[in-house]
Amino acid sequence: MAQEATQLVFGDGSPDADIVFIGEAPGKNEDEQGKPFVGAAGKFLNEMLAGIGLKREDVYITNIVKYRPPNNRDPLPDEKTAFLPFLHSQLEVIKPKLVITLGRHSMDSLLPGLQISKCHGQPKRYKGQVYLPLFHPAAALYNGGMRQTLIDDFASIPRVLDAIQ
Ligand code: URA
Repeated sequence: MAQEATQLVFGDGSPDADIVFIGEAPGKNEDEQGKPFVGAAGKFLNEMLAGIGLKREDVYITNIVKYRPPNNRDPLPDEKTAFLPFLHSQLEVIKPKLVITLGRHSMDSLLPGLQISKCHGQPKRYKGQVYLPLFHPAAALYNGGMRQTLIDDFASIPRVLDAIQ
């Protein structure tokens, strides 16, 4: 996978962030620019952040898998497992109040056994960390119902953050 990628896409944003967003894997634009969520899904993510008064620089954004999978295929279970220690190290350094998983790949890696259709928008405390599983912006972008659900779930972020001790 590394051989076929242009570069490693590590993460973007503030190391002091209260919120860390975790997507799936870099796509074509991310692979070219070396930053996560800079394509169409990233634009939608930026708009939703602006909707709750946040800029990208206020949060930290990364992916479970840090190289672009060839032809944008889904990341393989082994690939997700291989990158997990790096994600945990990022979280140890940043120590966010809230970890927001985007889509099922990052959710499955961090919160095993959940179904995104049932648990999206519901905060979960797991091993001392508060998580909020959300739909993936790329999946929601062109699906009217899912798009509105994601926007509504996003609107709950400030309340969820405030409620964390
Ligand atoms: N989708 C992701 O999951 N991550 C990115 O960085 C871009 C699109």
